[in-house]
Amino acid sequence: MENKVDIFDTTLRDGEQVPGCGLNKEEKIIIAKALEELGVDVIEAGFPISSPGDFASVKAIAENVKEPVICALSRAVEKDIITAAQAIENAARPRIHTGLGTSDQHIFTKLKSTREKVIERGVAAVKLAKKYVEDVEFYAEDAGRTDNEYLAKVIEAVVAAGATVVNIPDTTGYCLPEEYGQKIKYLVDHVKGIERVTISTHCHNDLGLATANSIAGVQNGARQVECTINGCGERAGNTSLEEVVMILRKHRWLPYTTGIATERLNPISRLVSETMGMPVQPNKAIVGANAFAHSSGIHQDGVIKNRENYEIIDPREVGVDESSIVLTARSGRAALAYRIKRLGIEVPAAEGDLVYDKFLELADRIKLVKDEDLKELVKQHLAPTIK
Ligand code: KIV
Ligand code: ZN
Repeated sequence: MENKVDIFDTTLRDGEQVPGCGLNKEEKIIIAKALEELGVDVIEAGFPISSPGDFASVKAIAENVKEPVICALSRAVEKDIITAAQAIENAARPRIHTGLGTSDQHIFTKLKSTREKVIERGVAAVKLAKKYVEDVEFYAEDAGRTDNEYLAKVIEAVVAAGATVVNIPDTTGYCLPEEYGQKIKYLVDHVKGIERVTISTHCHNDLGLATANSIAGVQNGARQVECTINGCGERAGNTSLEEVVMILRKHRWLPYTTGIATERLNPISRLVSETMGMPVQPNKAIVGANAFAHSSGIHQDGVIKNRENYEIIDPREVGVDESSIVLTARSGRAALAYRIKRLGIEVPAAEGDLVYDKFLELADRIKLVKDEDLKELVKQHLAPTIK
């Protein structure tokens, strides 16, 4: 089995469903071009039937972004599929993504249908989409809560109907990693024709397990991961692209590769955050403001001696200039000396204790000591003695 994992970015579709963070056409094109430069394999550009504006955005992306596959979402509904096909008709590599709910919860209380009819609808949707494009992805919505035996029947039927990619979403973010991995393995072992198609993960983060579930999916046979920049998406969001990519890169014993230019991860994170008006939490893995900041004395001393004592990623690998040593009341002497030296100031050894005591007093008061504060502190207490 091939070890290249395709990165399917759905920032512009599932990610954009964050309340109040919708994007206009121009913004979507800018982000799509940045995603192309990042090296994603597939861009899910939108849901064309949802609004004329989204149709226009998907169409513009299909016309302007040529390297990745451009994918349009539809329900398993004739009008949706035809509209999706029209939106991506000028794409170099078009894909229609169609499907419907397969859990009993969705079948009986949302679709008000039966298991048999859902299979028929899925097959009909794939066959219709195939009339417009060769590359058709089928999603089994709420696959996370779908009984595996029935899910295998659905997937076998849509593969026979011509699906090229089968998406197994954990729509509600319910699964445990082992459970989700087993689900993918069950399909690998039980679906006739599965070797001809790509299995895709699509995990939501309601229990904080989206990344772990996606990785479990890959370890059990999935070769496409659906994800978003910064993990944005409705409710608790989608799988975070940067986390999946860096997990596959850093764990060298895992045999998987992606085509992502990792040094572009932080710049694109900022672009998406600013364009959507959605701040990134400071402690977010890889792209949070504190991801490479060290503030406690023990850690700072270790990092100053050798960065790898407390960092598994070189910040430059993900587009951050350098790690930072931040000064708080938890910082130690090594960190204070390091920051003072960076300001070009030399403190006489005999004055070291005084400076450190004054620094702690200040840090207790103002919490975060910046360069200007440090200069002022040195000026106040040591001016006559420093060189
Ligand atoms: O979460 C989900 O099930 C989805 C599908 C529409 C692919 O976003
Ligand atoms: Zn989703």
